Amino acid sequence: MATSKYCFFKIFFFFFFFFISPSIAHSSFTPKALVLPLYKDVSTSLPQYLTQIHQRTPLRAVNLTVDLGGAALWVNCEAGYNSSTAVPARCGSRQCALFGPTGCGEESRICGRPVSNTVTGVSTFGDIYSDVIAVASTNGSVAGRRVKVPEFLFICGSNVIQQGLPSGVKGMAGLGRTNASLPLQLSSHFNFPPKFAVCLASSSFFTGVIFFGDGPYVLTTDVSQTLTFTPLLVNPVNTVTGFQGEPSAEYFIGVTGIRVGENNVTLNSSLLVIDENGIGGTKISSVNPYSVLESTIYKAVSEAFVNTLGVQTVTPIEPFGTCFRTQVSFSQMGPSVPTIRLVLQNEEVVWNIIGANSMVQVTSDVICLGFVDAGSNPSAAQVGFVPGGSRPVTSITIGAHQLENNLLQFDLGASRLGFSSLFLNHTNCANFRFSSA
Ligand SMILES: *[C@@H]1O[C@H](CO)[C@@H](O)[C@H](O)[C@H]1NC(C)=O
Ligand SMILES: *[C@@H]1O[C@H](CO)[C@@H](O)[C@H](O)[C@H]1NC(C)=O
Ligand SMILES: *[C@@H]1O[C@H](CO)[C@@H](O)[C@H](O)[C@H]1NC(C)=O
Ligand SMILES: *[C@@H]1O[C@H](CO)[C@@H](O)[C@H](O)[C@H]1NC(C)=O
Ligand SMILES: *[C@@H]1O[C@H](CO)[C@@H](O)[C@H](O)[C@H]1NC(C)=O
Ligand SMILES: *[C@@H]1O[C@H](CO)[C@@H](O)[C@H](O)[C@H]1NC(C)=O
Ligand SMILES: *[C@@H]1O[C@H](CO)[C@@H](O)[C@H](O)[C@H]1NC(C)=O
Repeated sequence: MATSKYCFFKIFFFFFFFFISPSIAHSSFTPKALVLPLYKDVSTSLPQYLTQIHQRTPLRAVNLTVDLGGAALWVNCEAGYNSSTAVPARCGSRQCALFGPTGCGEESRICGRPVSNTVTGVSTFGDIYSDVIAVASTNGSVAGRRVKVPEFLFICGSNVIQQGLPSGVKGMAGLGRTNASLPLQLSSHFNFPPKFAVCLASSSFFTGVIFFGDGPYVLTTDVSQTLTFTPLLVNPVNTVTGFQGEPSAEYFIGVTGIRVGENNVTLNSSLLVIDENGIGGTKISSVNPYSVLESTIYKAVSEAFVNTLGVQTVTPIEPFGTCFRTQVSFSQMGPSVPTIRLVLQNEEVVWNIIGANSMVQVTSDVICLGFVDAGSNPSAAQVGFVPGGSRPVTSITIGAHQLENNLLQFDLGASRLGFSSLFLNHTNCANFRFSSA
């Protein structure tokens, strides 16, 4: 793209301009928090959750699939990337270092990283670049003016890894546990706490929300006040693509047991812990549309669910394995079925999965338990497997359907997850006002 001398000058020039120019100084207004919309897209075979940022010079809207466990932002640079402010990251620079281990292009001297489409599982290697992005600020209840981050770092993807994303989507917004992820670059640029929150809407007719920074998060009321907390765990092994020896960018929590209604489900507890190879445990994923359970866990939960509900099952509809006729009654919280309770660090901290999150209406007369058995249909499971077996790398993947209309706050400073089911507070993710203040 350019010689390294030129780029160094350009970076330096940018800093100079940013601090001195009065017109830019005017926009040095420091937001306390930022906000992005979160759309549910149902145009592909399985739902994806999208956001939109503004990037490049001149600024243009870029649609992205949201990946909670993704290591960084990646966008397709191979087709249609045009910007006068894109700058490659030179090998050995602090920009490269933010990504942890990187490779170095022999001739280009641009650093790069493996980059994955976590929806399709396809990976390539991409150069690291920086460019300006703009994101709306918020006071917690309405979206305000857009603020710019002049040198936001991202990885260049290609046409090959863009495949499988909905039409018009150019990459993925990685919100994972790395210094280069979207939340961490934004909080370090604007100096706000390393926290972000997501709220996935349950339908393509509504818009959910991502908040970067601390609350309030006002969805009719300040829902940040209703959070229950559990520690976030670090999986020491990156089980997606990356370099050997680096930790996973995904968010893990410590599920110690599962109850269905008031009944304890008997599980092999060694599956619930992350071992030294990074295998086992429970993670949260926005790219898996439904939760995926290791086979013995799936069978135990399904059996307890069927027994507690006391309703005859019908022939299941893929990718699900436990289905009923739609004779179960409905309430405001969805189908009236036993609550599935994920027991966290002690008996008091429980993540309750109510009917609206546990069940999926598949046809007009069949409703299914919205969990996928990793063993029965590995391709539908969309998860990695331990070589030579049907055991998934991660025993429990809490998928997007189970996250909808829950506010989830990821507090990376305190390494904890806050969660709150908004149904229980008579609100939902679509109640944020995106109209400008
Ligand atoms: C890129 O943008 C420049 C300036 O706006 C324009 O002159 C040029 O034609 C664009 N190139 C492409 C390939 O769109
Ligand atoms: C992220 O940055 C912090 C502070 O600079 C550093 O201590 C930490 O090792 C970095 N983390 C990774 C995964 O590189
Ligand atoms: C990006 O997403 C928005 C909202 O779904 C949509 O209106 C717009 O057309 C999309 N842009 C492109 C280029 O596909
Ligand atoms: C379920 O397990 C918990 C803790 O192990 C115990 O306190 C509780 O009594 C059990 N409930 C039933 C119905 O067995
Ligand atoms: C529990 O799971 C582990 C890991 O898959 C397995 O090695 C072990 O045999 C299982 N224990 C029982 C009692 O099934
Ligand atoms: C939200 O729901 C919880 C549990 O039902 C309740 O304790 C809390 O007061 C509610 N908060 C608001 C703001 O409605
Ligand atoms: C945010 O700003 C809007 C418009 O100025 C105001 O109505 C609202 O009360 C403010 N919310 C908070 C939480 O400060």
